[in-house]
Amino acid sequence: MSMATTPLLRDDDRAEALASPALRGVIEVPGDKSMSHRALILGALAEGTTRISGLLEGQDVLDTAAAVRGFGATAERLAPGAWHVTGTRWRSPVIPVDCGNSGTGVRLLMGAAAGFSLAAQFTGDRSLSRRPMERVLDPLRAMGADFDASEGGRLPVRLRGGTLGGLCFRNERASAQVKSALLLAGLQAQGEVEVVEPVPTRDHMENMLRAFGCEVEICDEADGRHIRLGGRRALAATSVRIPGDPSSAAFPLVAGLLVPGSEIILRSVMVNPLRAGLFATLAEMGADLRLDHERSRSGEQVADIKVRFGPLHGVVVPAERAPSMIDEYPILAVAAAFATDRTVMHGLAELRVKESDRLAAIVAGLRACGVDAWDEGDTLIVEGCGGPPPGGADVAAHDDHRIAMSFLVLGLASRNPVSVDSAGMIATSFPGFAPLMRSLGARIS
Ligand code: S3P
Repeated sequence: MSMATTPLLRDDDRAEALASPALRGVIEVPGDKSMSHRALILGALAEGTTRISGLLEGQDVLDTAAAVRGFGATAERLAPGAWHVTGTRWRSPVIPVDCGNSGTGVRLLMGAAAGFSLAAQFTGDRSLSRRPMERVLDPLRAMGADFDASEGGRLPVRLRGGTLGGLCFRNERASAQVKSALLLAGLQAQGEVEVVEPVPTRDHMENMLRAFGCEVEICDEADGRHIRLGGRRALAATSVRIPGDPSSAAFPLVAGLLVPGSEIILRSVMVNPLRAGLFATLAEMGADLRLDHERSRSGEQVADIKVRFGPLHGVVVPAERAPSMIDEYPILAVAAAFATDRTVMHGLAELRVKESDRLAAIVAGLRACGVDAWDEGDTLIVEGCGGPPPGGADVAAHDDHRIAMSFLVLGLASRNPVSVDSAGMIATSFPGFAPLMRSLGARIS
């Protein structure tokens, strides 16, 4: 049964961060969330048993594990992060597929299931039930899938899967979730499947499909990147080693930049260039940040990241960079609050439809902490304080894990403590966040 049925919000969900002494230590953050979802789903479609190590055991990924079991695959946990997944032809789940808080989980699973002869209902928590699904349902319908959504293209969504044809789709929203859902559906489709990306998005699905033996052609042309499924689409089980999630690493990393005297090493973080926009932006802001021991692991680039406290200055972040750091704007906005001068971040329309309206949540949280910040359309502007902002607020996290972690990081270096009203959701992506931060010296209760 899906673990998403367990309520994550409790009365004791509040957390508080206080000005901390220098943060020091060598840490590893949990496995990458995007790769973890994909490893479970591809393993559940492949012939044979896939061995996964470093799987993120956050609630989002556990919900995907429960979902693939519902479709008939086997997913077993042998030890922390070590899982075996045995694939099968997917069949109708007997209970609804509850994807909890995870947009990635539900959108990828809808794509993966669409080409099987089955019936399924997809559900999620309060936040996920507010998020738009038409972005995947429309192109999947164009391939021939029969989806019935709730009002406004929301969950619950009913699927009657069956034979799919091909599709050539232009990914104007720059969504890796949409691209991945279509490639997954394409595994069962009869025709050509091609996604064209005016701006490339994270390519973990392409990399992992290849690791499972599927043919994927990638070609950069004048109108963007063309990603095409080849003729060989059967998947063969493999081994996947999942490195640390750069989107989780972002929190201790920025904390190290902001808390005076800090020096932190983050081991084995995935640094795929299509996920590395935050590192580039922080470097432009003057951050003392170094990537060491760059290497490859399961088809992805990995490095150790060394970060040291130091002053930052404001920058302009172009819209084209947004897909490579789409989940990192809340923590970048916190870094910008400590910088000298103004930081302007363009092209953030997608932040309105994440786990919360992140643009609104960032602006409200920063203002509550005494920072001048505002949005103009899909641009976010933060007037840096040139040092520690006042803090001293109880910030509304809107049940959003990344908003909660971002403002706790702010509180580690602001002049007054910062609390967040709901920290329980942090477990969806970064289980063990508070103890790991405390092991560096952070004062988070
Ligand atoms: C993800 C893609 C991004 C990101 C999400 C994970 C993925 O969403 O925000 O956390 O694993 O494909 P979009 O592709 O919808 O921007």
